[in-house]
Amino acid sequence: GAPEDKVPDSLKDYAFPDGFLFGTATSSYQVEGAWLEDGKSLNIWDTLTHNKSNLISDRSNGDVACDSYHKYKEDVQLLKELGVNFYRFSVSWSRILPTGHINVVNQAGIDYYNNLINELLANGIQPMVTMYHWDLPQTLQDLGGWPNQVMAQYFEDYARVLFTNYGDRVKYWITFNEPSVFTAGYESVAFHAPNVGATGFGQYLATHTVLKAHARAYHLYDNEFRAAQQGKIGMAFNINWCEPRDNITEDIAACNRMQEFNLGMYAHPVFSPEGDFPTVVKERVAMNSEAEGFTQSRLPSLTQEEIEYIKGTADFFGLNHYTTFYGSPLTYTGEPTFTKDVGILMMPDFSWPGSASIWLHVVPWGFRKQLNRIAEIYNNPPVIITENGFSDHGELNDTGRINYLTSYLTEMLNAIHEDGCNVVGYTAWSLIDNFEWNNGYTQRFGLYHVDFEDPNRARTIKESAKVYAEIIATKQIPE
Ligand code: BG6
Repeated sequence: GAPEDKVPDSLKDYAFPDGFLFGTATSSYQVEGAWLEDGKSLNIWDTLTHNKSNLISDRSNGDVACDSYHKYKEDVQLLKELGVNFYRFSVSWSRILPTGHINVVNQAGIDYYNNLINELLANGIQPMVTMYHWDLPQTLQDLGGWPNQVMAQYFEDYARVLFTNYGDRVKYWITFNEPSVFTAGYESVAFHAPNVGATGFGQYLATHTVLKAHARAYHLYDNEFRAAQQGKIGMAFNINWCEPRDNITEDIAACNRMQEFNLGMYAHPVFSPEGDFPTVVKERVAMNSEAEGFTQSRLPSLTQEEIEYIKGTADFFGLNHYTTFYGSPLTYTGEPTFTKDVGILMMPDFSWPGSASIWLHVVPWGFRKQLNRIAEIYNNPPVIITENGFSDHGELNDTGRINYLTSYLTEMLNAIHEDGCNVVGYTAWSLIDNFEWNNGYTQRFGLYHVDFEDPNRARTIKESAKVYAEIIATKQIPE
């Protein structure tokens, strides 16, 4: 269909609601560098970039990255210049617990985040802390990583260290960033770390552990920390909108499967009143598993006890959203994979404005539809947009990013004011150009440019940062 016809024309005269929170984000591996400093041990992205550098488009790594480990004070000044209410960053697990376990707490690592948090607060900026943004200590991967259920306990131990050390000042916690993306690192077809995995099993086994780990952290906070610290905990899910290629049953069903496998598999157990994985996910994997000759589904089933334990364990719905595709069914044959289970062909409309990333087109109406779907399915939870952003090649006059930012924010305001979606905060990805995983430094998402040729990693403001600062100051999108 032509979805452009289905949504009203963008309106530009809505203001942001009172109390609306603006932020921007980074993650530890992508910006910190200092990969071997002050007692930090290796994580799975250190290992991947050094041992399988061919999986990174420019064969680069995060050894130095933006050097934010040393330049955090400068980063905080950029945040101040933007006028954001909060800064979303992640903690490097192997920097504070080099063995992966709580037997050794690395004081230098603890100090680094204390210094960052204190610097933020001294400048009037709230910290929003992601506990896990993909950089698992290698020691824990050596035990199998997320498919090993013992990881749920280790994550709880790690969470305790974070709440104990930082919870007096941190009021927003995100357990996991994009579980559907990093658990795919356990599929044999994956590019992400750890790039190992049992075909068709790895992602589901990891998912099972991650949900339990998340719930353990939430219950730990509830039982021991919430009364004194009064913070909020959620997870940052990610989902791009999928528009049925044609308005026919098959295409609608394919898009629904895409939503349920990539978002529902993680959000449904936490946010739906019945808990558990979505029905279509359970049915599809069981059906394929049987046809493939397995005696049981490749998707672990959650026990009733697990369902009850995981249900309701979030104070807000974190959403990372970037783009939109058209979807229609595609039947994959051959070895069992997550992709085969989803069974969809996703294609952009190549007339949509593009970016430096092959998957990222500028489709603001898809954002509005995605927000509506979440409101509808999960009973309008408070949503914090935990990531949204645009890639180019690092231009300072970044008109593509300005257009993306203003058009996506416009549709978000439409969703709030016209559709009643309960969106309470927005995070622009990213504060600074950084190490973009498999794309190395070839794709830039920053509001500030970073010169990676410069040993000092100089930061330079882009035009989009000025526009974002104006939006935050005026609570209005400029004409
Ligand atoms: C999100 C991640 O998936 O997308 C970020 O949470 C990442 O860490 C961003 O930087 C951009 O994706 P990519 O794959 O182009 O680096």
